Amino acid sequence: MSFELKESEFYDSVYVKKDYQEEAAQILRWLPEHTKILDVGCGTGKHALAWEKMGHEVVGIEPSHDMAIKASENGFKKIQLTEIENMNTEFFGEYFDAVVAMFDVMDYLIDFPVYTKAIQKISSVLKPGGLLFLEGWNKETMPARFEHIREIYFFQKGVRYARVGETLYDDKTGVFHVHYGFYRNLGFKERELICESDHFLKPRLGGKQTNKFLESFGYEIRDQWEDDYSVRLILKKK
Ligand SMILES: C[S@@+](CC[C@H](N)C(=O)[O-])C[C@H]1O[C@@H](n2cnc3c(N)ncnc32)[C@H](O)[C@@H]1O
Repeated sequence: MSFELKESEFYDSVYVKKDYQEEAAQILRWLPEHTKILDVGCGTGKHALAWEKMGHEVVGIEPSHDMAIKASENGFKKIQLTEIENMNTEFFGEYFDAVVAMFDVMDYLIDFPVYTKAIQKISSVLKPGGLLFLEGWNKETMPARFEHIREIYFFQKGVRYARVGETLYDDKTGVFHVHYGFYRNLGFKERELICESDHFLKPRLGGKQTNKFLESFGYEIRDQWEDDYSVRLILKKK
């Protein structure tokens, strides 16, 4: 058994079918040309790169050193290696036209005071009239919809891998524990465990409560889209 490969090595291969270009373009429909965008939890930099190529100035916030290295290898280098709740906002002031936290980033802030601090940090770097884009699991529907075991197959450098996700939900705390095992397929049945990871997520989007909470920070809801799995919110800072 070897654990030399890390989860970040697989991230782009697992999500190879995710249309980052289209997602990035959807956000730009709300923004004028040549804006300044803060990408919170930028991961491997796929959205950020798309915005940069379309003439926008992008700064990424990413606490995972491994993900930031992947982003840099992909060509996106303007990353502050920190959690959003610990970002040094004084350096920027109200600098950004848009702050974007796509693909469940804010769900990782399972502690309510930390989540609150993160929203305060975001607000302090967003211009008045600026837009905040949030995307996360739907807290209203996910407890009934998540799959306990979920296997995804993907290829990397011609080798077939499986990511086996095992999810547990704690209905007292509202926290999901997702355990991933990454396996290299050796044959039809045989496979070798390459690496493992644990993720803890507390979805907060969906329903009126969170919207009220966000409005209390001086945001107005501009748009909301949801299905059984996720919610996207577009908020405007007054
Ligand atoms: C599912 S990934 C999404 C990455 C990227 N936004 C995308 O769309 O591919 C979640 C990301 O959130 C980052 N993250 C977790 N906690 C964070 C925090 N407190 N502040 C900022 N980013 C965080 C993780 O390191 C990870 O890169």
